[in-house]
Amino acid sequence: MKISIINGPNLNLLGTREPGIYGNQSFMDYFEKLKQQYPAISFDYFQSNIEGELIDQLQAVGFSSDGIILNAAAYTHTSVGIGDAIKAINTAVIEVHISNTFAREDFRHTSYISPNAKGLIVGFGLDVYRLAVESFLPK
Ligand code: DQA
Repeated sequence: MKISIINGPNLNLLGTREPGIYGNQSFMDYFEKLKQQYPAISFDYFQSNIEGELIDQLQAVGFSSDGIILNAAAYTHTSVGIGDAIKAINTAVIEVHISNTFAREDFRHTSYISPNAKGLIVGFGLDVYRLAVESFLPK
């Protein structure tokens, strides 16, 4: 099974960015542990601060991966283009957010991802990525 993780803007700064909201762990440290937990899964990881690069990556993996875990970060709340890209590909997308976006500012309550996603996992810290992996495993 191949699972693709795509992270949007500022998530390269996890570990130092607003630790009260996003925690102290870098994504790469978390990702190494995640890969060890699921040795049978082939993971690929992509992060960009640029909207078009996130769309390019969705198109690049969206016809071959078995599942995509997407944290579009701030673009979640603004990007018609990323929402359209999810509609245009074949692979199911799980939308994740580290923080509980619904408990934060009103503008974070809108998502251009959710209407096109298979599911949504928010508010459990970095564990949202593991929970999304679990959702792709055969039952
Ligand atoms: C986030 C929530 C977004 O509102 C914010 O812009 C982010 C991170 C999260 O994972 O909690 O950058 O997607």
